[in-house]
Amino acid sequence: MSHKPSTSPGYGPPKLQIPCLPILGPYDWGKLLKDIYDSIVAEATAADLYYRLLREAPDQLHREFIEHAYHDELKHLEAFSRLYTFFTGQKPHYTFSPVQYRSYGQGLLLSLESELEAAEFYHEVILSSTDPLVRDTFFLAMGDELEHATRFGVLYAMTKGSPLFYNLSEPQSQGETK
Ligand SMILES: [Fe+2]
Ligand SMILES: [Fe+2]
Repeated sequence: MSHKPSTSPGYGPPKLQIPCLPILGPYDWGKLLKDIYDSIVAEATAADLYYRLLREAPDQLHREFIEHAYHDELKHLEAFSRLYTFFTGQKPHYTFSPVQYRSYGQGLLLSLESELEAAEFYHEVILSSTDPLVRDTFFLAMGDELEHATRFGVLYAMTKGSPLFYNLSEPQSQGETK
């Protein structure tokens, strides 16, 4: 009995163009600019979320870990903004929707998930470009996001099961303007 290979989209072999670079295939110019712009929005959104979470941090370890991520996101925001300006000759104009969460613990979980998503996204951009400036800028951020994911994972594990997780407060709808 023979087995046909799966033809379901998403379940086939990864499309890697090894030994050519970039190994995920090159982005077109428009997609790269959109990815840089989306990264700017993501960094601003994360910085705003961490700024609000910091005010609810229950102890020094939580404060230290969240503050570390907050300052890194501001650094990434600056780096991606400079990259955007370098390529377009214009400063990025953007808005973002503040992340809403119903408890400190849920805020930590949303942070962990967004860090993992960002790291995967940046990873994909790196493997889709041969431009050293693009690759280095996204690599700078990707490494930090993986570190943040570890930190938020620890804080979330410490918080799960505590009143900080289950004591649902009003939705946090107000973003901070810095
Ligand atoms: Fe970041
Ligand atoms: Fe991060």
